[in-house]
Amino acid sequence: MRTQVVIVGGGPSGLLLGQLLALKGIETVILERKTRDYVLSRIRAGILETGLVNLMRKAGVAERMDRECIVHDGTYISYENELFSINFKELIDQSVVVYGQTEVTRDLYDARDQIGAKTVFEAEGVQILDADSNAPLVTYCVNGVQYTIACDFIAGCDGFRGVSRKTIPETVRQEFEKVFPFGWLGILSETPPVHDELIYANSERGFALCSLRNENLSRYYVQCPLTDTVEGWSDDAFWDELRSRLPQSIAEKIVTGPSIEKSIAPLRSFVSEPMRWGRLFLCGDAAHIVPPTGAKGLNTAASDVHYLSEALIQYYEHSDEQGIDSYSEMALARVWKAERFSWATTNLLHRFPDQSGFDLKMQRAEIESLHHNKAAQKWFAQNYVGLPY
Ligand code: APR
Ligand code: PHB
Repeated sequence: MRTQVVIVGGGPSGLLLGQLLALKGIETVILERKTRDYVLSRIRAGILETGLVNLMRKAGVAERMDRECIVHDGTYISYENELFSINFKELIDQSVVVYGQTEVTRDLYDARDQIGAKTVFEAEGVQILDADSNAPLVTYCVNGVQYTIACDFIAGCDGFRGVSRKTIPETVRQEFEKVFPFGWLGILSETPPVHDELIYANSERGFALCSLRNENLSRYYVQCPLTDTVEGWSDDAFWDELRSRLPQSIAEKIVTGPSIEKSIAPLRSFVSEPMRWGRLFLCGDAAHIVPPTGAKGLNTAASDVHYLSEALIQYYEHSDEQGIDSYSEMALARVWKAERFSWATTNLLHRFPDQSGFDLKMQRAEIESLHHNKAAQKWFAQNYVGLPY
């Protein structure tokens, strides 16, 4: 079999890339290790920057998003009993939208069905061969039968645990990592959200986040030790802990109910450089991870997709290699800015096991600066809504 671009991974990065390329007549095959139902059952963040909203529109997959999304003109931050807002609209005349990553992925799969592009599910043992030549190959197995695809390029969109990044030789690859000493315990519950905008809470018991999906679906998180287990957290214990970390006026308004999903995610910052090796291009979580504070994961994947789709279109339409040659540098420049924001907001809002009295005073001084200083708020707003591509 032969195609123009093999996309390894059918998560949001791979699907959005495939859609943008298809609109320009570029043929792709997506190889996804799991089933479609499995991919669509993963619960992830739900804040979309304007850049991603515009890419969804450009890709022709924005109809349901435009109808169902909730526009957020700002966000709230709390510490002790204080609650203050950072109003993006007032500060920089921009906003973000709430629309679950699962919904983004579903819309992209539906669009891929409509154009009839090939997606192979349950593709096992994917191997990328000769990526440093002009004739790369990708092999994989389905039901024990091995297949080979010849292609021009490979997009490694297979997430943090995928095979693409590891195909780049260790002599070429440099990895930068910070693992945070805590996780987020998250629940989804069919209850009305406590607030119409998100609340990021710094409290002496640790971080908490009040988020939402729609008027009857709430998403809440509390910082927890990495040794905790989901089984060890009853719903009641979760609600009590959440309330204890919020200002009283908010805590007393929380509507509780049974959780319909509960999970613990570790927090990590990670970047692998370069994002290109020969004809292999890394995109999204395959190349970088951010802690979820600030909701930059999906949005940073989207900016990679933007740069890579433009580069490949430039190659196919004008035989111009300038875009593919500069892809890694362009993508990484923005990735590091998102890494910095996610790292900074994580440091600002969490309790660390080794935090000294001095560290706590510094954290508080920084939150107060965000509370009272318009310049600090503007910096936060610009980063939260997303830096330009
Ligand atoms: N072969 C084929 N597919 C693979 C392989 C492999 N060896 N390894 C992983 N995959 C698939 C996964 O099953 C998954 O569906 O690649 C896909 C990667 O998807 P994501 O992990 O969602 O990564 P990405 O598409 O880059 O999305 C960006 O933003 O909010 C963050 O982490 C969040 O998923 C999110 C990401
Ligand atoms: C979410 O709704 O899941 C969410 C929102 C904002 C974040 C992280 C997660 O920063």
